[in-house]
Amino acid sequence: MKVDVLTLFPEMIQGAIDASMMKRAREQGLVDIRLVNFREFSTDRHRTVDDYPFGGGAGMVLKPDPVFAAVDALRQGEQSKPRIVLLTPQGERFSQEKAYEFAHESWMILICGHYEGYDERIREHLATDEISIGDYVLTSGELAAMVVMDAVVRLIPGVLGNQESAKSDSFADGLLEFPQYTRPREFRGWSVPEILVSGNHLEIAKWRRWQSLYRTWQRRPDLLAKAHLTDADIELIKD
Ligand code: ADE
Repeated sequence: MKVDVLTLFPEMIQGAIDASMMKRAREQGLVDIRLVNFREFSTDRHRTVDDYPFGGGAGMVLKPDPVFAAVDALRQGEQSKPRIVLLTPQGERFSQEKAYEFAHESWMILICGHYEGYDERIREHLATDEISIGDYVLTSGELAAMVVMDAVVRLIPGVLGNQESAKSDSFADGLLEFPQYTRPREFRGWSVPEILVSGNHLEIAKWRRWQSLYRTWQRRPDLLAKAHLTDADIELIKD
């Protein structure tokens, strides 16, 4: 998979890549990440990337020309079409489902904004998707791009050491993950649930599923309402 990030602060993203599993994924050739400073595509003397809004008002607006030019340069000679994702608080809320969708793509371009907003023509005529990572406003799209990139890259086959761990993630099946324990078996008087050390794999699987369902019901009833429950699940939660 190819991921291009259009950013005014490539060093910010570089640092995050180097400190995460994305570095190894890159070295193994599982993902090709390119960081593009779109200021380099500004044609005026001062390499301007933002300007005052037409109609007045506070703040600056990201100009369309350097962003379009950077995307044009990336697409030069390419046959395939990228998903062009604009990071913005106005976008669709990012989710595990969306992460899976992007992980199936062969090419994604993430665009990070920094100012009050984007010139609307970027939204209308360039972006294929607008993504928000939550209902809060960040000072820059870089942090949001890193969140999206991390969630997507870890789903690429081979990136995680153990593919099983992505399968049992919270949200992978629409439910929160069950509680996990490791050694020591007894810690400060708190012991690991007996069932987990029983060796009875069928009972352990049932316990975990019940915990997943219960935890989701307690913490995120909205997720439970959307989850696809099996007959066995209904049986588990009946009493
Ligand atoms: N840029 C600023 N805030 C953001 C958010 N919540 N999600 C995505 N991009 C952003």
